[in-house]
Amino acid sequence: MEEIDHIQASPDHAIVWRGGRLYLLDQRALPERAGFLAFETASAVADAIADMVVRGAPAIGITAAYGAVLGARARVAEAGDDWLDLWEEDLELLADARPTAVNLGWALARMRRFGQGLAPQRAEAELLAEAERIHREDIAANRRIGQLGAALIEGPANVITHCNAGALATGGYGTALGVVRSAFAAGKLERVFADETRPWLQGARLTAWELLQDQIPVTLLADAAAASRMAWGDIAWVVVGADRIAANGDVANKIGTYGLALAARHHGVRFMVAAPTSTLDLELASGAQIPIECRDGAELLGCGGRTLAAPGAGAWNPVFDVTPAELVDAIVTEKGVVLSPDTKKLADLMRA
Ligand code: MRU
Repeated sequence: MEEIDHIQASPDHAIVWRGGRLYLLDQRALPERAGFLAFETASAVADAIADMVVRGAPAIGITAAYGAVLGARARVAEAGDDWLDLWEEDLELLADARPTAVNLGWALARMRRFGQGLAPQRAEAELLAEAERIHREDIAANRRIGQLGAALIEGPANVITHCNAGALATGGYGTALGVVRSAFAAGKLERVFADETRPWLQGARLTAWELLQDQIPVTLLADAAAASRMAWGDIAWVVVGADRIAANGDVANKIGTYGLALAARHHGVRFMVAAPTSTLDLELASGAQIPIECRDGAELLGCGGRTLAAPGAGAWNPVFDVTPAELVDAIVTEKGVVLSPDTKKLADLMRA
C-alpha cells in the first residue's frame, strides 16, 4: 500500500479524513517512519484495525466510524434505496476486526442507529458528520479525563504507564497520557516510566515518541522491571488506559496490566485507570465475560520481524488481561472519578 507523506504527522493528528478518503498514521512503523496510509473501503479499514495500523480502544472505534462512512458510500452506489442491508455487512466486518475493545462496537452501534432512515443521497454526508462528532467528543472527553486524573496526583510524582494510551490510541490528547500531560502541565509530574510492552512495543515505540514530543521526561522499563522499580519507593501512581471495563469495575487492558496492578498493591503504589465512558460495558457483570484477543504466536517468538526464539517453541499470545476491580484505586472518566470501583458506583456514574 502506498505511503503518503504530505500530511503532517503528530500524535494528535493520526486519524485524518480529507478529500473523501481516510488517512491513518501507520503506527507499526513509528517512530522510525511517520507516514500515512490512505483508505477508501470499509474492508481495507477493517484489515488496518486487525493488522495494528491503528490501535488503542478509542482510536479503533473512531477509525471504524470513518470506515462505516466509506462503506455507506459504496453501498449507496451499489444498491440505492436498499443500501442499509448491505451496509450492515460492513458494520459487522468492522466490528469483528478486534474483539476486546468495546469502543469498536460502541462507535459502530452509534453509526448504525444514526444511519437508520437516512435517505441514500444524504447518507455519506450525514454519517461523516456523525463520525466527526464521535472523533471530537473523544478528544473533549480525554481533556476532561486529563484534568480529573491529574487532580488525584500530588506532585512531585513519578508514574509508571503500560502500553500506549496516548493521543495515538484515541482521537487525540490521550487517556492515561492525557492524565500525564495534564499533570506535567500542572508541574506535578517528574518522570514517566514506560513499560516497553512486549510484543508490539507500544511503550518503547509509541509512548516514548509521544512523551518526548511534549518534552515529558520518559524512562523505559523492561516489562519485568516495573515491580523492582516500585520496590525502590519512588513511584506514586500506575496510570493506564482500558479496552473494556465491566459493570463491577474489572478492567481489560494490555497484557501485563494485571501483573502491574498486583505489584502496585504490594508496594503501596496507587493504580489509576483512565478511560472514556465509551469503554464501559455495563452489560457484562464482570471481567470474566470480556473476550480476550489471542494473536498469532509468531508475534511473540521474535522481534522487529526477526525470529529469536528456539525453533519449535510454541507461544501463547493473549494480548489483553483482566485486572480485578479490587486492585483499582480509581477509574477516571469524563463524567467523573470513581474511587475503589464497584457495580453500584459505576451504575451511579452512568446514571448521573
Ligand atoms: O493492542 P493495542 O495496542 O490496541 O492495545 C491498546 C491498549 O491496551 C490501551 O491501553 C487501551 O486500548 C487504551 S487506549 C486509550
